[in-house]
Amino acid sequence: MNPSRYTFGEAELAALRESVMGEMSPKRFHHTAAVEDMVTRLATLYCPDEIPALRAAALLHDITKEYDVRTHMALLAAAGQPLRKGEEYAHKTFHARTAALLIPDNYPVFNCETVVSAVRWHTTGREGMTLTEQLLYLADYIDESRIFPDCVRLRSYFWDGSPERMTVEDRLIHLRRTLIMSFDMTMRALLSEGAIISADTALARNELVLVELNGRR
Ligand SMILES: [Fe+2]
Ligand SMILES: [Fe+2]
Repeated sequence: MNPSRYTFGEAELAALRESVMGEMSPKRFHHTAAVEDMVTRLATLYCPDEIPALRAAALLHDITKEYDVRTHMALLAAAGQPLRKGEEYAHKTFHARTAALLIPDNYPVFNCETVVSAVRWHTTGREGMTLTEQLLYLADYIDESRIFPDCVRLRSYFWDGSPERMTVEDRLIHLRRTLIMSFDMTMRALLSEGAIISADTALARNELVLVELNGRR
C-alpha cells in the first residue's frame, strides 16, 4: 500500500533525478541533489506527507537556471507572462518562472500544484507563501553545498536551534524567524549591489515581520 496522496513515488523520483542530471552541469546537479536532501530533512519536521512533492520540486527547481536570457524571455513571452517594471534587470529570478512553466509539458507526472508553486516561488518568495513553498525556498538557501557566509550562518541558525525538539507551534515560529533572516540577507545583498529587489520578496518579508511585530505566536 502506498500511503502517499501523490501518484509518483521512489521509481518516478529516481527516473526524474536521472533525467535532470543529464540536463544540467555537474555543479548544478550537485546543488540540486543537496536541495533534495535538505528539503527532505525539513519536510520530515514540518509536513512528512509532502516529502514526495518537495523532492520532485527540488529536482525541478533549477532545470532552466543555465538557459540564457533570450531563451527565458522567449518562454515567458510564449506563455503570455509579461515582465513587471524593472524585472528585466532581475535575470536571476527568471529561471523560477520558466522552470515552473516547463513542468506541465515536460514532466507531466509531477504536474501538481504543490510542485509547480514551490518551483515558481523558490527564488523570490511571495506574500502568502504556503508551507511547502517556504520549505523549498529555505532548502535552496541552506543546502549543504552552499558555502557563502550568509548561507552557512542561516543553516547554523536553523539547525542549532534544534527544531526537532520543539513543539509544533515553536517549530513554525522558528521557521518564520529563519525565513525573515533569509529575506533580510537577500535584500541586504541586493542593496549592496545596487540591484533591483523583487516586490514579491519585500512583500514576503513584510508579511512575516508583521506577524512578529503584532506579537502573535
Ligand atoms: Fe534557483
Ligand atoms: Fe537552486
